[in-house]
Amino acid sequence: MKTILEERLELKREIEKVAEVAGYLWTKGWAERNGGNITINITDLADSGMKSMAAISDIIKLDVELPNLKGAFFYCKGTNKRMRDLARFPMDNGSVIRICDDCKSYEIIADNPVKPTSEITAHLSVHNHMVGKGSNYKAVLHTHPIELVAMSHNPEFLKKDVLTKLLWSMIPETKAFCPRGLGIIPYKIPGSVELAESSLKELDDYDVVMWEKHGVLAVGDDILEAFDQVDVLTKSAQIYIAAKNMGFTPDGMSDEAMKEMSVVFNLPK
Ligand code: 13P
Ligand code: ZN
Repeated sequence: MKTILEERLELKREIEKVAEVAGYLWTKGWAERNGGNITINITDLADSGMKSMAAISDIIKLDVELPNLKGAFFYCKGTNKRMRDLARFPMDNGSVIRICDDCKSYEIIADNPVKPTSEITAHLSVHNHMVGKGSNYKAVLHTHPIELVAMSHNPEFLKKDVLTKLLWSMIPETKAFCPRGLGIIPYKIPGSVELAESSLKELDDYDVVMWEKHGVLAVGDDILEAFDQVDVLTKSAQIYIAAKNMGFTPDGMSDEAMKEMSVVFNLPK
């Protein structure tokens, strides 16, 4: 059993990690204007003080029902808020919400009535799915990494597992740290239920999912882990593009070398 002080310190640390990652997203050029969003399931860190906090907003309806999130608490980036601002002031550019008992709505409880991200349907659907699976994942990240989004404009790369294999073959670490690869979701309207539903399906098979011509969604035990997954894939994309810019198509690691990696590192596929 954690003490209230331990819970508060852990919560503070998780919010500090969000601010740290928001800074990386901005410096990497993945977060133009309000681009991207972060949510963290902080239910396990909610002390009795937080549990009894009064709502500071009306009840806000969700587009989906989330049976595994009854009474759960989340830190959410605010809609239209900038990552570069969130990096300095996470509680002014996001808010803490509580899912209501009907599992179809939420209310904001702290610190300011900042409306959560427009991608809340996808984020909360993923959290609901993760809790249902008994997963330890607590963080969901959506961001706009330049090279990966650029690659999603080529129909060839959108065919099943083509991009995953290409990215894995650029540098051995990519398969080691992103062993289930990158799932592809054909273009759908941002913030839609359809986008949320297809993300869930793909996350059962892949570490990170690509929203065609938009961005990626990654999950992790914490937000640093989710960020690392996107960073590793982006590094491979940059190596591919660097080689192309030098005028040649990179060889990529051979199938034999890839198989050897899977055996030595005990990777799933
Ligand atoms: P929000 O500002 O609502 O989080 O939207 C940013 C975004 O990237 C939408 O896909
Ligand atoms: Zn986006």
